[in-house]
Amino acid sequence: MQTASTNPETAVDAAEAWWRGAVVYECHLPSFRDGNGDGIGDLEGLIASLDYVRGTLGADAVWTGPFYRSPLLDQGFDVADHTDIEPIFGDLEIFDRLLVEAHARGIQVIVDYIPNHTSDQHPWFIDSRSSRTNPKRDWYVWRDPHADGGPPNNWTSEAGGSVWEWDTGTGQYYLHSHLKEQPDLNWRNPQVRAAMLDVLRYWLDKGVDGVRIDVAHMLMKDPEFRDNPEAVGGNDNPYDLQHPDFGSQLHLYDRRHPDTHDALAEIRAVVDEYPGAVTIAEIEAMSWDEWAAYYGPALNGMHLPFPFRLLETEWQAGRLRNELAGLYAAMPAGGWPIIALGNHDRLRLATRLGAAQARVAAVLMLTVAATPCLLYGDELGMTDQPVPAERQRDHFGHTAGGVSRDSTRTPMPWSAGYNAGFSSADPAKLWLPLARNSAEINVDAQLADPSSFLSLYRRLIQVRRASSALRHGELRFLADACTDAVVAYERYRGADHKAVLLNLTDSPARVQLGLTGTVLLSTVGGSGRHVEPEFHLGAGEAVVIDVVERARTT
Ligand code: NOJ
Ligand code: CA
Repeated sequence: MQTASTNPETAVDAAEAWWRGAVVYECHLPSFRDGNGDGIGDLEGLIASLDYVRGTLGADAVWTGPFYRSPLLDQGFDVADHTDIEPIFGDLEIFDRLLVEAHARGIQVIVDYIPNHTSDQHPWFIDSRSSRTNPKRDWYVWRDPHADGGPPNNWTSEAGGSVWEWDTGTGQYYLHSHLKEQPDLNWRNPQVRAAMLDVLRYWLDKGVDGVRIDVAHMLMKDPEFRDNPEAVGGNDNPYDLQHPDFGSQLHLYDRRHPDTHDALAEIRAVVDEYPGAVTIAEIEAMSWDEWAAYYGPALNGMHLPFPFRLLETEWQAGRLRNELAGLYAAMPAGGWPIIALGNHDRLRLATRLGAAQARVAAVLMLTVAATPCLLYGDELGMTDQPVPAERQRDHFGHTAGGVSRDSTRTPMPWSAGYNAGFSSADPAKLWLPLARNSAEINVDAQLADPSSFLSLYRRLIQVRRASSALRHGELRFLADACTDAVVAYERYRGADHKAVLLNLTDSPARVQLGLTGTVLLSTVGGSGRHVEPEFHLGAGEAVVIDVVERARTT
């Protein structure tokens, strides 16, 4: 049996660190709610939605998505000014008001910190590309051509093609791991580090409660710029919406250099100057040992490195259980995980898994020993909506062979009314078109339906909020109940004891549970039913059980 590792200090931390027991909600600003009628979600719209986030859904923190000055070729992950707000999203006064309004409701605010690259419109890059002798030249990664006259090496970009872009004016290539309009900063330059740490201080001084660090695994590259090896047979990742060029090689040298951890420890040291602030690190899927290293050798790295390996695991009970066991076995003592099974870069959960299993996934995220991070609209079972080329915003889809992620990012449907309650603008002006099923899949409709996705999420969050075992307790797999179809685990803390059964198939399943209790919540209905040591799960059913008695010793 696997136990989520904790040490005595953890119990103290659990009481102190707000984020350990919290539910984080990723709202993705341009798609969330339009506050001024121009068709684009904004900070005013987010402020107007805080009662939904806290009162209706029950989340504890919002992760905003980028709102900095930006040409918005990559949804704001292309920053042109780190300390000002893109006017379509609002201004600094509105941002300050967001903090006040969120904090007044007990909501923590997590903003994006995008250290790996800027926009090519950022003044730093404009200076850097102006001449080879400009003082900011070394702030980005510039190289001479390869001896054959082509790009310095073979690295491929996440957005397709080479990571190297030729600059005619100065006769060198610059590196961009994403779009060519997103040059990578040179984190080996101490001035860059100092400037980017100042950016962090700027937002922490304002009072944000944490940062989600974009591509934290990419800050340091191989200093020798060695070629990546070819991926024999291709390295395509069916779970990621990536350009096929990216999958043509094994990305050994363009990311995940060991020196990355020193840079992240510096970031963490700044964040630690602000008690309670959290670092959530976006790092790509990797082995559990490599993932665990992002906590830092003395827990001086990231508080919550995303375990995307879980998101990329086939939805099958044995595989999921193995990966969860791998995660807990690798996690350092005193560490605590975050879990996200969907985000703005991936297919929506209900598209990937279907509606029934997306409900099972909700139970997993909200009951496993981890801080859940939920993508806006997944609580409604939103599905992907292909966006016609002329309406696409994501420039990753504009490159040859590129894949747009806009289908995941359609506007939040609040009601069955005009523009699904997202905006009062002309529909042609909406940031992205509404999902066609918005008349059925929307907040108002689901609030009125006790069997809806939203009702399930609300109930799950209530059950979680009322249970210290679910928020902070140990996790142990219920080995006898785990089958090819079912993942089963228990959570316990003091007298509070819960069991969770997830049927990952569309057939009924019978499990030997060895526990008695009461079903607190089921994805298919049937809460309140009495639990016998042998338990029958319906097709695609997940349950949370309040355990009253253990029929065997463990
Ligand atoms: C990861 C973000 O989640 C994604 O949306 C973005 O395109 C890249 N980083 C580049 O910033
Ligand atoms: Ca707006």
